Amino acid sequence: MHHRRHLTALAALATLALSTFAGSASAQEKIKVGFMLPYTGTYAALGVAIENGFRQYIDEQGGKLAGKTVEYVKVDDESDPAKAADNANKLVKRDNVDVMVGTVHSGVVMAMAKVAKDNNTLLIIPNAGANVVTGPLCAPNIFRSSFSNWQPGFAMGKVAADKKYKTAVTLTWKYAAGDESVGGFKEGFEAGGGKVVKELTLPFPNVEFQALLTEIASIKPDVVYTFFAGGGAVKLVKDFAAAGLKDKIALVGPGFLTDGTLEAQGKDAEGLLTTLHYADDLTNKKDQAFTLQYAKTYKLQPDVYAVQGYDAAQMLAAGVNAVKGDLKNRDGLVKGIEAAKIDSPRGAFTLSKAHNPVQDIYLRKVVGKENKNQGVAVQALADPARGCKM
Ligand code: BEZ
Repeated sequence: MHHRRHLTALAALATLALSTFAGSASAQEKIKVGFMLPYTGTYAALGVAIENGFRQYIDEQGGKLAGKTVEYVKVDDESDPAKAADNANKLVKRDNVDVMVGTVHSGVVMAMAKVAKDNNTLLIIPNAGANVVTGPLCAPNIFRSSFSNWQPGFAMGKVAADKKYKTAVTLTWKYAAGDESVGGFKEGFEAGGGKVVKELTLPFPNVEFQALLTEIASIKPDVVYTFFAGGGAVKLVKDFAAAGLKDKIALVGPGFLTDGTLEAQGKDAEGLLTTLHYADDLTNKKDQAFTLQYAKTYKLQPDVYAVQGYDAAQMLAAGVNAVKGDLKNRDGLVKGIEAAKIDSPRGAFTLSKAHNPVQDIYLRKVVGKENKNQGVAVQALADPARGCKM
């Protein structure tokens, strides 16, 4: 008798424990973030920096947004557009993520945007500048924490024209990011009286620059505008110097040319001028706190990619907090992000109607291991968002 009563009590306890467990699990729903980023290839370091920055912001919130624990899954997109739709579908259909965060490569992000649209999945883009995703493909569920390819390109075009350069050759990988970056440069440069005399390209991610540098040497333009990033940017800057061009022809580009790359480029990058929405010596409080914490956590100096990851998390937080964690309230979540003023290490920014940052573009100069701010090249620059109907 005594023994049986004991068992019953145990069973009751077990039931209670189980239901309590189930109850707390549902009350403590999670927010599932799916990173789709390059973890291999020429953009691998960019992907890692973005994830680091994103996690840093979430960690600063105790790992939770609106009381919900943030958990992560991730896929290496290899910066390969051919695998992009499958990879994005894995996150949406297999992993059931609440939000996709990705990616770096413009060709890959276009496929992600399509999957996000088809499934109405929230997408926050922490780098890829493809003009179309905040242009003709713009949508309520698609946001960008970084830039459009047009933005830093246009700013550098203006800077180059202001410097009275007359002729330019452009050199880039042949894909959306390179084409659109050059497009922005050309617009700014030619409006200021310059002329792009030759547009040179090579396929992504090739870095066989020799023949192209020989051609540049024979054209002798006033300035070379070049879009490369990651491992490709390291190689271009070194090869340009090795070809003996560094003291003869100005080499400029969007800041990706020298961001996160200066350790590897060494003295070959010294003095280069670039335009970007971030610099290494900004003096705002947010950047100082961000930089200190990043160095502590990752034993690295942050770069623009880390900032964009951090701000992607801030944008998600703005949406989630606006609906107090109720992710099913999609309209409220979207409005929350749209209305946010993001306190970014780059300086505070807001979002355009097309969901792209409206931001100052700095002119930077490489001094030692830093991209030093030379002043704002274009203030509060908004992408023209051509073709966006929203
Ligand atoms: C892009 O593909 O959009 C991109 C890649 C690296 C740096 C900047 C832009």
